Amino acid sequence: MKTSHTAAGLVLALGMGAVATTALADDVEVLHWWTSGGEAAALDVLKQDLESQGVGWQDMPVAGGGGEAAMTTLRARVTAGNAPTAVQMLGFDITDWANEGVLGNLDEVAAADNWDDVVPTALQGFAKHEGHWISAPVNVHSTNWVWINKSALDAAGGNAPTTWDELVSVLDAMKANGITPLAHGGQPWQDATVFDAVVLSMGNDFYQKSMIDLDPDALAGEQMIEVFNRMAMLRGYVDENFSGRDWNLASAMVIEGKAGMQMMGDWAKGEFLKAGQKPGEDFVCIRFPGTQGSVTFNSDQFVMFGQGEGNNEAQLKMAAAIMNPVFQSAFNVVKGSVPARTDVSDADFDDCGKKGMKDLAAANSAGSLFGSMAHGHAAPAAIKNAVYDVVTQHFNGELGSEEAAEELANSIEALR
Ligand code: GAL
Repeated sequence: MKTSHTAAGLVLALGMGAVATTALADDVEVLHWWTSGGEAAALDVLKQDLESQGVGWQDMPVAGGGGEAAMTTLRARVTAGNAPTAVQMLGFDITDWANEGVLGNLDEVAAADNWDDVVPTALQGFAKHEGHWISAPVNVHSTNWVWINKSALDAAGGNAPTTWDELVSVLDAMKANGITPLAHGGQPWQDATVFDAVVLSMGNDFYQKSMIDLDPDALAGEQMIEVFNRMAMLRGYVDENFSGRDWNLASAMVIEGKAGMQMMGDWAKGEFLKAGQKPGEDFVCIRFPGTQGSVTFNSDQFVMFGQGEGNNEAQLKMAAAIMNPVFQSAFNVVKGSVPARTDVSDADFDDCGKKGMKDLAAANSAGSLFGSMAHGHAAPAAIKNAVYDVVTQHFNGELGSEEAAEELANSIEALR
């Protein structure tokens, strides 16, 4: 039997023993962390798309960039026997939940729309478990970007940096011009996002060995010490109020010209667009100097929690809607990310979006596409959290660079 939005439907559902907070059969309750201006604008594209198809939306936002707080809430909900219907999730968290055997199955809609053929292989690694589709990828973000205020760059000589030394020169020039060179929010996931890029700038092999293979020699070696030295240098360019700042407030500093640049994934572009800014005119997007040609990615996916036989109609509709190519374009144009399918045109994307799509395809064929450690696509949460701890302690001056490299290797080794 299908319940409805009507009062009678609600009474019926409650009479049948449903918990009041549980979504009705033609609703989805969506747990997510998209609460900034740009994120909310993108979420709205999804909400409206679903509503136009008769799928009601019960919002379960849990603020906190990177989704750590959302994942804590999710654990509590599942433990209480009250899992939301659909959950925004990243990489290895999806695998962890799949291993607990609590996720639904999307094979039916995946087969109808040939997801096997159009979803990039790197994403399928997380969206499928033991051969079955368990989540619908809504985007591909990448983390090795820098967002620069155009006027501040012009005042600093006008050339976007392509190497570490050029980056340092531009940051110095911005400092001399009286603005905060680097807008940053001191939260572990943000520190780790910058760290991802600095590690990648030491070379593809080094990123592979240290972040993916978790090789102890790479984690404790000379190159890692140099990574931490560079992190310490970057720390010298942030303002004194950086601690705890939300990422979108750091974006706002660049948008308003109070700061020169932000090193952040392309969800930051959503904030610039929401503020009415245009790439090339008001802001400039570049790959983190030294990482041109390489991409560290993360993909937001919507994972469906098992609802029991016959109760997954709304979930299947939501999954099909997410993978619709027209929706993938409309959503990602607003979000700052690129489509999670290979057959979507870049026609509606701005220059940064077009570059993002091109870079992703090129990195994929060149073997220089890597899962982001900071955003759960390089290693499971336990290891990611160990990286967060060391990177943040070092960024805050509690560990020297050599100590940090050693601590990184030791804490990861202890978890393996
Ligand atoms: C990432 C997520 C993005 C964006 C960002 C900041 O982990 O993939 O979609 O929301 O966090 O909240």
